[in-house]
Amino acid sequence: MINDGIVNVSYIIATILFILALGGLSNQETARRGNWYGIIGMTIALVATVLGDVERNFEYLIVALLVGGSVGLLLARRVQMTQMPELVAILHSLVGIAAVAVGFANFMGAGHDYAGAEKTIHDIETYIGILIGAVTFSGSVIAFGKLSGRIGGKPMLIPGRHWFNLGLLVGAIWFGYQFVVQSAGGAGIEPLIVMTVIALLFGIHMVMAIGGADMPVVVSMLNSYSGWAASATGFMLGNDLLIVTGALVGSSGAILSYIMCRAMNRKFFSVIAGGFGTGGGTVAAGGDEDGEVVPVEAHEVAGMLAGAKEVMIIPGYGMAVAQAQHIVYEITTALRKKGVNVRFGIHPVAGRMPGHMNVLLAEAKVPYDIVFEMDEVNDDFPDVDVSIVIGANDIVNPSAQEVPDSPIAGMPVLECWKGKTTIVLKRSMATGYAGVQNPLFFKENTRMLFGDAKDTLDAVFKAL
Ligand code: TAP
Repeated sequence: MINDGIVNVSYIIATILFILALGGLSNQETARRGNWYGIIGMTIALVATVLGDVERNFEYLIVALLVGGSVGLLLARRVQMTQMPELVAILHSLVGIAAVAVGFANFMGAGHDYAGAEKTIHDIETYIGILIGAVTFSGSVIAFGKLSGRIGGKPMLIPGRHWFNLGLLVGAIWFGYQFVVQSAGGAGIEPLIVMTVIALLFGIHMVMAIGGADMPVVVSMLNSYSGWAASATGFMLGNDLLIVTGALVGSSGAILSYIMCRAMNRKFFSVIAGGFGTGGGTVAAGGDEDGEVVPVEAHEVAGMLAGAKEVMIIPGYGMAVAQAQHIVYEITTALRKKGVNVRFGIHPVAGRMPGHMNVLLAEAKVPYDIVFEMDEVNDDFPDVDVSIVIGANDIVNPSAQEVPDSPIAGMPVLECWKGKTTIVLKRSMATGYAGVQNPLFFKENTRMLFGDAKDTLDAVFKAL
C-alpha cells in the first residue's frame, strides 16, 4: 500500500527511537521518556510493516492484533509488581515460539524461490532461527515456572549432564546438515522437526540445571536469546528492522547478563553449565547453632532511627511483597526533616528482576539522589548508625564472604553488619531465594523486627 522508500524511512526512524528508548531506560529520570520513545517506535514499525508488506488477508491481521493486544493489555493491568519477573519470562517465551512458528511457516510456504547458495544461506537462517526460538521458548517457560514457584528452585542435576548437552549440540549440528542437504531436494521437514525437539529439550535442561541463586543471570540471558531469535527471524523474512531490533535486544540482554554475572561474581559459562544455588526460599533456618536472635518492637526502632545521624535503608524482595515502598518514603521524609542523613543501598540482584528496587522506589517518589548502588556505599557502613534491612536476605548474607562452599559464595553483599546497628524486617526466620541461612540475624548488633514489612513500618512511622 505504501512504497519501499516510505517503509525504509519509517524503519530508520523506528530504529533511532528504539536506540533512544534504550538510552532513556538506562536512567531513572529519563526512563518514562525512554518508554514513550519505545512505544512510538513500535507503533511506527507496526504500521509501516503492515502497510508496506501485507497485501491481502487484512481481516486475519486485525483480528490477531486485537486478540493479542487485548490479552497483553489485560495481563499488564492485572499483574502485581511482584509477578513482574515471571511475566517478563513468559513474554520471552512468546518471542521464542513466534520465531519457531515463523520459521516453519517460512520454510513450508511457497513464497520464496531461492536457488543455489542463496537457498543454502536462507535454509541456515531458518534453521538457526527455529533453533534459538525453541531454546528460548522452553527455557523461558521453565524460568517462568521457577520464578513463580511452580517449579522448585533446586538445580536438577542429571548424571552426565555435560555429555547430554554435548550430545544435543552434536545432534543439532548433524540434523542441520541433513536439513540443508534435504531442503536442496525439496524435502527437509523431518530434520527440522527433530532439531526443534532437541532444542526444546536443551532449553528445559539448561534452565532446570540452574539453581535459585543464579536465576538473575538466566532471566537476562533469555532476554538476550529472545533478541537473537527475533534477529534470526528478521534474516529469514528479509526484514531489516527486525534484524536491528533483535540485535539491540540481544546485545543489551548480553550486557545485562555480564553485569549480573559481575554483580554475583560468577563466570557466565559456569552459570550456564548449571549446578549452583539451592532451595526456593521457604526453608526455616535452624538457628540454635548460630546463637540467639534479638527481637525488637516498632517503637524501639522508631527511637533508634530518630536518634541516628546516618541511616542506610537496604530494600529487598520482601519490600516488593509487602508493597512497603510508600511507607518507606514517608519514614524517609520524616527522618530527613529531623536532620537525619538517609540513604538507600541497592544491591544489583535485589528483588527478582534487574532494577526491581529502583522501580519501586521511583514509584513511591523517593528522590533519586539518595538512592545509591552497592559499590557506592559499601565502604561507608562503619559510619552508619542504623541500617534497616527491609525484606532482604541473600543480599546482606555474610556467609557469601565467610563460607566458601555456600551457594552464594563469592557474591558481593551489602556489608551492613559493619555499621553500629542493623535492624532486619521480615516475617519469620525463613531463608531467602538461595535457600541459605543468614548469620547476620544472629550477630550481636542485629535486631529483628518481625512481621509484614508494611505493617511493622506503619507502626514505626506512627511511633516516629
Ligand atoms: P531474598 O533473599 O529472596 O529475601 C527476601 C526476604 O524477604 C525473605 O527472607 C522473606 O523472609 C522476606 N519477606 C518476604 N515477604 C515479606 C513481607 N511481606 N514482609 C517482610 N519481609 C518479607 O531477597 P533479596 O535479599 O532481595 O535477594 C534477591 C535474591 O533473589 C537473590 O538470591 C537473587 O539471586 C535472587 N534473584 C534475583 C533476581 C534479580 S534479577 N534481581 C532474579 C531472580 C532471583 P520471610 O519469609 O521470613 O518474611
